[in-house]
Amino acid sequence: MTAGTPLIGVFDSGVGGLSVLREIHALLPAQPVLYFADQGHVPYGSRQIEEVRAFARGITRYLLGQGAQLIVIACNTASVAALKILRDEFPQIPFVGMEPAVKPAAEQSLSRKIGILATEATFQTAMYASVVDRFAHGVTLMEDPCPGLVSQIEKGNLAGKETRAILTRALEPMVNAGVDTIVMGCTHYPFVIPLIHELAGSQLRIIDPAPAVARQVRRVLEANNLLNPGSDVAMVRFVTSGDVAQFQQALHSLIGVEAPVEKAFWQGEEIKNTGGSAV
Ligand code: DGL
Repeated sequence: MTAGTPLIGVFDSGVGGLSVLREIHALLPAQPVLYFADQGHVPYGSRQIEEVRAFARGITRYLLGQGAQLIVIACNTASVAALKILRDEFPQIPFVGMEPAVKPAAEQSLSRKIGILATEATFQTAMYASVVDRFAHGVTLMEDPCPGLVSQIEKGNLAGKETRAILTRALEPMVNAGVDTIVMGCTHYPFVIPLIHELAGSQLRIIDPAPAVARQVRRVLEANNLLNPGSDVAMVRFVTSGDVAQFQQALHSLIGVEAPVEKAFWQGEEIKNTGGSAV
């Protein structure tokens, strides 16, 4: 990493945000990134919103302490739970968050029937209700929280029996109802897009917001004079509050990256790095 190059902090409950990180790194390879996976608390989607908010606050403080100058909430659940509050509480730092991509789905669906796959917590928030209210006029929405899917993806089970069963149950009624567009409203889910196509047909349009999020990251970096104009590929640092070896395995299998992973611990509401890593 070039000294002084602005660091982007990216976080998720686990491996899901890697679907966003790979787009950010592809678009902005010269920008150093610290990716934090809160695997000590995954899944977020079945938790209370207040609890997810507290995790997001703790992670934000940690990333700021590590030198982050832009924070990307690469997690729909944490974004709908905490983005607004974090922007109020940490006005000195720009945040990029996510919201379920109902708008592009409504624009692109020909059948006017859209499927949304997101976590239970995401579906319960006012922010999701507001997205539906603003963008889903004249379309039928079919929502499914896919219980257990995040945990299967965390385990690396992208096409096994349990994952197939969860997706078959969610997708069958959607396909039968004539849904032609499905929104990935959870950053873990893009890793099962090949299986979704296998189960629901290759003609199904799948909306993964990650490339749009990466473009937004570039716009925000530019607007804040944080964009690194250099061309040297920057370092990505990986930290997990869960199991280091398991995360390292996921890095390899999900995004083809071999890298050291550092361990961090929650102490009350704070995160401490051990400095230890597995290589
Ligand atoms: N990847 C996250 C999201 O986008 C969180 C999933 C979870 O931890 O339940 O919602």
